[in-house]
Amino acid sequence: QEDVFKKVISHAKEYGYIFGSSEIYDGLSAVYDYGQNGAELKKNLREYWWKSMVFMHQNIVGLDSAIFMHPTTWKASGHVDAFNDPLIDNKDSKKRYRADVLVEDYREKINQKIEKDIAKAQKRFGEAFDENEFRNTNPNVLRRQKEIDDITAELTRVQEENDLVGFKQLIEDLGIACPESGSKNWTDVRQFNLMFGTKLGASAESATDLYLRPETAQGIFVNFLNVQKTGRMKIPFGIAQTGKAFRNEIVARQFIFRMREFEQMEMQFFVRPGEEMKWYEYWKETRLQWHLSLGLGEENYRFHDHDKLAHYANAAADIEFDFPFGFKELEGIHSRTDFDLKAHEEYSGKKLQFFDPELGKSYVPYVVETSVGLDRLFLAVFSKALQEEELEDGSQRTVLKLPAVVAPVKAAILPLVKKDGLPEVAQQIVDDLKWKFNVMYDEKDAIGRRYRRQDANGTPFCITVDHDTLNDQTVTLRDRDTMEQKRVAIADLKPIIAQKTDA
Ligand code: GAP
Repeated sequence: QEDVFKKVISHAKEYGYIFGSSEIYDGLSAVYDYGQNGAELKKNLREYWWKSMVFMHQNIVGLDSAIFMHPTTWKASGHVDAFNDPLIDNKDSKKRYRADVLVEDYREKINQKIEKDIAKAQKRFGEAFDENEFRNTNPNVLRRQKEIDDITAELTRVQEENDLVGFKQLIEDLGIACPESGSKNWTDVRQFNLMFGTKLGASAESATDLYLRPETAQGIFVNFLNVQKTGRMKIPFGIAQTGKAFRNEIVARQFIFRMREFEQMEMQFFVRPGEEMKWYEYWKETRLQWHLSLGLGEENYRFHDHDKLAHYANAAADIEFDFPFGFKELEGIHSRTDFDLKAHEEYSGKKLQFFDPELGKSYVPYVVETSVGLDRLFLAVFSKALQEEELEDGSQRTVLKLPAVVAPVKAAILPLVKKDGLPEVAQQIVDDLKWKFNVMYDEKDAIGRRYRRQDANGTPFCITVDHDTLNDQTVTLRDRDTMEQKRVAIADLKPIIAQKTDA
């Protein structure tokens, strides 16, 4: 698994998907830049999400709110007081530990043990094996599951009660995820706020302390009435937005899984009080189906329902994905009650209510939120798409089987040779297709090598111009996944490519 992850990181760099930020200065930890292909893939994923949310739902509209917000926003949202994490350093190893990351690691390690138990039993019982029944009845699995639940509950308690002594004890209990568990040489436990602070204003005296937003959701809440009124929206309705969020992650690692500057795609769905559970279930299922539509394989997704809930929620679940380092959170679906709107009413002194003509009364709506990290989605798609294939002739190929709809380059146009007028014809095809698709021209190296390069780059189609093209206006169209080649008319290229790459 570790090797797969290393391969993902090096491939992302080699093919212009992701670079470390300011690399020439040795980089900045947990900050990344998206290269020529990464920027396209990310934009395409964002668009795919946006279309499915805003275009496909008549009652969901978009928003693009500012990163800077009035500082009281973060008092009301609870981030100033509660967006903290206990933190401790080991003086010997100089390693820093943060409670929720440790618990996440611990959960993953125990889950791996459960998977091993399951694999063993499957081998023993063969066809007759029922995984669900085994999970629900096997004493070993149940015991391990209870270990996970207990430690998660303890973490929530430690965080809620600000119990720093309890946190130290938690580390002792987490031996499996913390090699220094037995060590006596720890610093004191400190509380650490994850928001980045900055200043607005010209002089030091008059400057206002601001935060970089740690989630995009609050921009939606404070604009709830603006959008509802100007868009004449009726409940239930949603507001969607994508944009940067910032968190001073203490233990930042796992490549673009946990970053300090990242992008969220969030949607707040405003509903009648009492109807939130119905919509919560609806959005859980709808969001899972959306992920499945990318075609990466159903077995790579699972729900993780939260037993312990954040202060603002009455139900919450994660959609987890099988990343190269195991199943981890990809998206969160939260039933946030009226917590946020009520808090903003209280702090701003402004009413944030909806007059429901059917009920003949006003109320503060309840909110169901879907929140997915764009960078995490990128990592999910990229890491599953990267495959090593053994070909019939015994050779190997590296292929990036990105869903065609989000692939950065849709087609590469390749003249078979660099003479006889073939480059000019190829260039004409580029000039025709470029109005609709991101395409590229490549004439360097033998055709086989160019095909391999496009496979590794994730390009769904290669279009080869040869001498026959000059006579019959046809080209060879090669499919990345099947490697099938067929002859098609230049005039038919657009609909054929569109059929596979249009959302
Ligand atoms: N408004 C709700 C909210 O922000 P969250 O679970 O803290 O909830 C939502 O974040 C999603 O944002 C996560 O599921 C994850 O995909 C992404 N995310 C959160 N922190 C991140 C980080 N440090 N780096 C990359 N993605 C992150």
